[in-house]
Amino acid sequence: MNENPFKFGTVVDGQYFTDREDEIAKITSFIKGENHLILISPRRFGKTSLIRKVINDSGRRYVYLDIQLIISTEDLASQLLKRIYRIFPVQKLKRYIKSFRLIPSVIMNPVTGETEISFKPGSADLTPLEDVLNMIEKLGTDNKKIVVVLDEFQDIFRINNGLDRMLRAVMQNQKNITYIFMGSSESMIRNIFERKDSPFYRFGSLMTLAKISREKFTLFLEERFLKITDQAKDLSETILSITDSHPYYTQQLAFTVWELLIRSGKTPDMVEVASNDIVQSHDNDYERLWNSLNRTDMTILTGMSGSNLSPLSDEFSRLFGTGAASTVFSTLLRLAQKGILIKEGSAYSMDDPFFKRWIILRRKM
Ligand SMILES: Nc1ncnc2c1ncn2[C@@H]1O[C@H](COP(=O)(O)OP(=O)(O)OP(=O)(O)O)[C@@H](O)[C@H]1O
Ligand SMILES: [Mg+2]
Repeated sequence: MNENPFKFGTVVDGQYFTDREDEIAKITSFIKGENHLILISPRRFGKTSLIRKVINDSGRRYVYLDIQLIISTEDLASQLLKRIYRIFPVQKLKRYIKSFRLIPSVIMNPVTGETEISFKPGSADLTPLEDVLNMIEKLGTDNKKIVVVLDEFQDIFRINNGLDRMLRAVMQNQKNITYIFMGSSESMIRNIFERKDSPFYRFGSLMTLAKISREKFTLFLEERFLKITDQAKDLSETILSITDSHPYYTQQLAFTVWELLIRSGKTPDMVEVASNDIVQSHDNDYERLWNSLNRTDMTILTGMSGSNLSPLSDEFSRLFGTGAASTVFSTLLRLAQKGILIKEGSAYSMDDPFFKRWIILRRKM
């Protein structure tokens, strides 16, 4: 059986997971200690996979919630409580819920078998959330803390303006919970945890997650491609030179190359063919994205697609006519915030190698 050994778009573990030894060691020691953790990385670098792996291996009970999908403070309370229902026996929870100031409605969905919980929506009342967080604190113990992972944490501001203050007020007195805050908007997350006037100033230790190391990724790809081709090394290196070791796009391209190999056998330019297939399949998305950009965005992205020059350099500005440095700078920041660019240190690069390719191909047409 030559089942495709690559996987993208979902949380990965086991044979689909590689590298991250240092990060695993570091986060494991965090979970054992007294500190909270803040984990930052651009989209699809592998935050969720990494965190799930560490917590599963640690044997800790945990709750994972993506704040991006939360609509209101009542919704936040309901969703947290729903996840608590998944890991604790109902009888144990009943006792605590009885003392809530607002009692939620709890029903068993007969179709999904899941417990549905809702606090009456619309009042923007913070008491349900406070009650739920206090309950989680009581369910944990000092040497068996519960891990609460809040992903895309910067989205709390969209939910409610004063939510950061309220959360901090409750969380700072808790001893039986380890919080892991994650986010893909580096500047927003840094604002929350590094600005002196922010309620969460220095609430935990900040860690940034980089791409997977080129060396480890080469071995990972090579080992798998060796099962079906003797050109595994070449293929792996070509794939990584296109994706620049981005975890998601590398797995996506490797997956596509594998399919092509199985279907059509080896051809000299198969990584090119696979890349163009991916570009083609996203044509609509890329077109929509492109049309949502302004002229400065377009100029900068076109320049970055066609050259390896830093968009902040004089030469880039001369070649592509990008105008005032301050405009370029603020555009880069904004494009990074939107996830179109990645900022590593002080250098910017395009996030999606296939969008980059789309721009080049389209302009050639
Ligand atoms: N350690 C890893 N080894 C191999 N591939 C990985 C690893 N981590 C992530 N990937 C690849 O990247 C993809 C995205 O991973 P994951 O969903 O964990 O990232 P994320 O940062 O949580 O993404 P999002 O921004 O969408 O929440 C995975 O589906 C997988 O293809
Ligand atoms: Mg994630």
